[in-house]
Amino acid sequence: MAYEFITTHTEGEKVGVITLNRPKQLNALSPQLMVELGQALKAFDADEAIGCMIITGNEKAFAAGADIGAMATYSFADVYRDDYITRDWETIRTIRKPVIAAVSGFALGGGCELAMMCDFIIAADNAKFGQPEIKLGIIPGAGGTQRLPRAVGKAKAMDLALTGRMMDATEAERAGLVSRVVPLDKLMEEALGAALMISGYGRMAVLAAKECVNRAYEGTLADGVMFERRMFHALFATADQKEGMDAFVNKRPAVFKHQ
Ligand code: CAA
Repeated sequence: MAYEFITTHTEGEKVGVITLNRPKQLNALSPQLMVELGQALKAFDADEAIGCMIITGNEKAFAAGADIGAMATYSFADVYRDDYITRDWETIRTIRKPVIAAVSGFALGGGCELAMMCDFIIAADNAKFGQPEIKLGIIPGAGGTQRLPRAVGKAKAMDLALTGRMMDATEAERAGLVSRVVPLDKLMEEALGAALMISGYGRMAVLAAKECVNRAYEGTLADGVMFERRMFHALFATADQKEGMDAFVNKRPAVFKHQ
């Protein structure tokens, strides 16, 4: 499919890479870009060969937020009636395979929120995260006030949302927003290494792990543990569990068939 504001390619025939591509606007997330991103994610999710996806930007910006130029003239009727954000941004929440955000440069406002909608964030050492919407007379609108406190705790989330200041990669890692920080020139290598590793595991175990960790955010501990226990039990019905354990016992590499 031909896209205008993103590019896509595959790596090692198993990883789908989506690059946000509006460099002059620091990858500001326009409605059309978000539609294209949703289409690309769905296409990779439906592709049996693909086991994991990466969303990335460029050296200067992952994404500097929702497109302020596009939003500037929106009225309440425009955003409420047309369900702005929900309409185009929530597709990523329906994606079942893991999605890694490989972030360099600015990840601000909607850019930070998009990164947080991914399953985990690997950051380059020049990454900067923030929710500066307060400076525009609005608040985060794509989950920032909800996901940021879950990731970094109330104090830092309040600080970022109320002051609009940026947090560098070191602070973001210390706070728990990102899983790893690497030198800028190693960012894609690191993200691809993780994505290829994930793609090599049994698909059902991968989907189950993602579903279960996500439950930790949305329900009670007791419900989450019960959900995990049942998924754990269910994986004993897969051929991949037999293969993984037999390979371990017989000291050979496992070859998963995603069955
Ligand atoms: N929307 C639209 N255009 C943007 C943009 C955005 N979010 N961020 C940057 N741009 C554009 C700039 O307008 C500029 O365009 P021109 O060259 O045509 O003037 C170009 O990208 C380069 O930006 P700067 O010249 O400002 O670059 P800089 O290096 O001096 O500053 C920056 C970088 C600090 C990130 C600055 O661009 C900035 O503050 N951007 C806005 C960040 C922001 O407020 N994001 C939140 C948006 S609201 C939101 O996301 C709502 C939500 O929760 C869903």
